[in-house]
Amino acid sequence: MKKIKNIGVLTSGGDAPGMNAAIRAVVRTALYYRLNVFGIYRGYEGMIDGDMVPMDYRSVARIIHRGGTILQSARSERFYTDEGKAEAYRQLQKHNIDSLVVIGGDGTFRGAERFAGLYDINIAGVPGTIDNDLYGSDFTIGYDTAINTVVEAVDKIRDTAGSHNSLFFIEVMGRDAGFIALRSGIATGAEEILIPETQTNIDSLIDKLRYNRRESKTSGIIIVAEGEKEGGAYEVARKVTEQFSEYSTRVTILGHIQRGGSPTCMDRVLASTLGYEAVKALLAGKKGIMVGQVNKKIVYTPFAKAAKEHQQIDPNILEMATILSL
Ligand code: F6P
Repeated sequence: MKKIKNIGVLTSGGDAPGMNAAIRAVVRTALYYRLNVFGIYRGYEGMIDGDMVPMDYRSVARIIHRGGTILQSARSERFYTDEGKAEAYRQLQKHNIDSLVVIGGDGTFRGAERFAGLYDINIAGVPGTIDNDLYGSDFTIGYDTAINTVVEAVDKIRDTAGSHNSLFFIEVMGRDAGFIALRSGIATGAEEILIPETQTNIDSLIDKLRYNRRESKTSGIIIVAEGEKEGGAYEVARKVTEQFSEYSTRVTILGHIQRGGSPTCMDRVLASTLGYEAVKALLAGKKGIMVGQVNKKIVYTPFAKAAKEHQQIDPNILEMATILSL
């Protein structure tokens, strides 16, 4: 096994609170084990452009509590191309970088898998996305902060909904996954939670709202995941009000507020742990894997599996949410 000497670290895809804590952990663990470490800016884009700098202990001081990513992030179109990957590898060779820690979501790992298939480079992944949709980790970095942001926002909307007898359709992020919607919906006592993993039935939704109305529910919150299959919050609200207009209806799209903010304690600890473990994994000769935590244990999942086999929604939790919202 070739000894590793120089590690590059990057953040890629949508930023997520806790990415800075992960960068800090990678840098400090690498330095502790006497490796050189380079920060690569703007994910794979910066790698192609050779935008990378050596990092030391102080480069990652006072960042553990900050949202966003000090290395910045990007979704790189160029890295999809053979020329882009070849140039990225040339830049790594120029800096003698033999190993990478990539922090991001499924797109990041798909890119890493293809890159490692073409070139001699050791790559470990750290799951950083608010969507929590990766197989191989119970939680991804940023998810806990994002759902707490959603909960805070929905609680506020609940106040105004109650004061005006309104029905709110609140759209949350998650791309094609419903984890943010489901967990924040449970935590805010949402009347309904609509997610991409189950087909929304507008007629049943209306039946439920009629029932709520009869049972003297004067207002309500419907959490709609952005990937929900009837078309999202505006579309669902339109379809409902066409047939049932007893509530005054409002739509709120929470948007990118969900990606920002100071990471929660849980995200900081998860990010610190996975960043540390990613460097240890590379030192132990592991590569082509995402480092995750399942049932409090560190697990290594090949990139292809982590990105392709999405984490599954537990149907019992969905049922519980429905029962508790009556
Ligand atoms: O993957 C994180 C995420 O915030 C998704 O929830 C959302 O669908 C997407 O990124 C939005 O990406 P962008 O900021 O590029 O529009």
